[in-house]
Amino acid sequence: MEKKPFYITTPIYYPSAKLHIGHAYCTTIADAIARFKRLAGYDVFFLTGSDEHGQKIQQTAEGAGVTPIQYVDKIVAGFRNLWKELHISHDDFIRTTEERHQRVVQEIFRRIYEKGDIYKGSYKGLYCTPCESYWTEHQLDENGCCPDCHRPVQEVSEEAYFFKMSKYADKVLAYIEENPEFIQPVSRRNEMINFIKQGLEDLCISRTSFDWGIPVPTDPKHVIYVWFDALSNYLTPIGFLDDEAKFGKYWPADVHLVGKEIVRFHSIIWPCILMALDLPLPKKVYGHGWLIVDGDKMSKSKGNVVDPLALIEEFSADAIRYFLLREINLGQDGNFSRDALITRINSDLANDLGNLLHRTLNMIGKFQGGSLLPPAGESAVDASLKADAMDTVKAYEEEMEAMQLSSAIKKVWAFVSRANKYIDETAPWVLAKDPGKKQELANTMYHLAESLRIISVLISPYMPVTAERIWKQLGLSEDFSKVQLSDIREWGGTPGDLKVGLPEQLFPRIEVEKDEAAPVKQEKPAKKEKQGKAEHEEITIEDFSKIHLRVVRVLAAEPVPKTEKLLKLTVDLGDEQREIVSGIAQHYAPEDLVGKNVVMVINLKPAKIRGIVSHGMVLAASHGDGMKLLSVDMPVGSRVR
Ligand code: MSP
Repeated sequence: MEKKPFYITTPIYYPSAKLHIGHAYCTTIADAIARFKRLAGYDVFFLTGSDEHGQKIQQTAEGAGVTPIQYVDKIVAGFRNLWKELHISHDDFIRTTEERHQRVVQEIFRRIYEKGDIYKGSYKGLYCTPCESYWTEHQLDENGCCPDCHRPVQEVSEEAYFFKMSKYADKVLAYIEENPEFIQPVSRRNEMINFIKQGLEDLCISRTSFDWGIPVPTDPKHVIYVWFDALSNYLTPIGFLDDEAKFGKYWPADVHLVGKEIVRFHSIIWPCILMALDLPLPKKVYGHGWLIVDGDKMSKSKGNVVDPLALIEEFSADAIRYFLLREINLGQDGNFSRDALITRINSDLANDLGNLLHRTLNMIGKFQGGSLLPPAGESAVDASLKADAMDTVKAYEEEMEAMQLSSAIKKVWAFVSRANKYIDETAPWVLAKDPGKKQELANTMYHLAESLRIISVLISPYMPVTAERIWKQLGLSEDFSKVQLSDIREWGGTPGDLKVGLPEQLFPRIEVEKDEAAPVKQEKPAKKEKQGKAEHEEITIEDFSKIHLRVVRVLAAEPVPKTEKLLKLTVDLGDEQREIVSGIAQHYAPEDLVGKNVVMVINLKPAKIRGIVSHGMVLAASHGDGMKLLSVDMPVGSRVR
């Protein structure tokens, strides 16, 4: 049977700097989806690449004393290496400096020009070079800077070609409104609808003040605007212009996965270009959230960049992938912290998964000489494990199809815990002492091995190396790269006489020097005299502006077990949800907090409190024994200054 095609793309990255863990996050998501789709039997085409033209690159190369191509060649080699180290399974890597791409961009320009949707005019306006974006006066932020990156914009005035975007505004709006699946998550969709409703102006698509770009075919003193150039990359490797069958198979794309700040380019400008070309529009543009460090988006200028290669070297690619995909809900921002990463590695990977494999293989070795014995009959607890396994596969598939990667892997982990509990419930070491329980023991060992076979397939989109290691330690002979989801939709794929391997450690535990229960401000106030001194020490307005205070809503509250003072709160920041631990249990019942709008410090360094990572702190006033949270009747997300 012919496989169904599935075409997924990441953005093509600017080689203006080294890639950081935020870029790796975006590519890892796409990779996990691509791997899942391959498992599910699709014919996947997964594209990533580099976006190498534009003024910013030309300036950076000049600053470095090299030609632009020398500059980008070196950086792009670094991209390829990072994707290799992170086990990214892309089918093609497109560079916008390649001849195959240049041809496509010029042809697209020519076709739209001939249609009359590109015209020559003169541009006078504002341009943000770091973002390669045009802005109008009314779109600037309150300081007159770029609304995306908040850096100064430049006045530009030059002869230029324009693309008649205004002609397509109504059509794109109708498409977005008629296709609720097109822009996801829904918050991004609403933003885009509002953006179009404010009016779409024609887009300036050429520049003459620099030459690092693809020349306009009929007027080569102009180079084509980088976004027009970059977006066209999605058509180049799937056969546009030279392989009609291939192009017909993969276009329209199933998913353009992009960061939330570039949804606008993908869901408005790109559809207008495609409409002008009479090509169908992509099925989905998914805007994922940002990976933030201590409450701030990662960027070189802020000096908070986390290097993915160093992390991979220290913790392994699979551990990083697992953390990114499990810890962050796709549409929301998520915090990256080393402490949270180590917690996940120790508790989920070394402990839950590592122990399940180790205990299982150890017992098969010790009690049955390293071989399974064919199962016969089934106890109630065996049947319930089997039913849980099948339910997990089903729920996982549903979540993965909906791109809910975090929920899907949480379901797998619930099953890992279930299987560990099954060992305690069946107590194989007791069965092993009773010769009359030989079959019961054989059944138990079989159920554990089969559970691990299923788990290894389910985790393979997240942790491809670990998944295969489990498969091999189990002694399964089938080539892991050929395994499909259909192989685990039914229980019983493990051969009844399988000879298993020796257990090898999957993830070593990471020892942390710091005390687990890092103090929280509310729990251990600083010494009185220190407090007094601090109170009288003057700070500048700049000092104060480092503290980001925001109105947040409490969505859920529950006591932290075995503590008297602590509550775990789930709060809504407006654009993401977080968990924090607060020492207010003696002053508030959890149910009284739900729905309250309180003030929170959102850029406080995360701290682990009783095993829970707290991402921020709510503010409270205290007097004597009394304490009240600062509560404000303002919408969630309001900045407090
Ligand atoms: N070159 C354009 C994309 C053109 S696509 C036709 C571009 N490049 S970029 O290198 O600046 O960003 C690439 C992607 O990385 C974007 O989707 C962006 O959102 C993502 N990220 C950059 N920093 C990020 C985080 N800190 N967290 C998550 N994703 C982040 O835009």
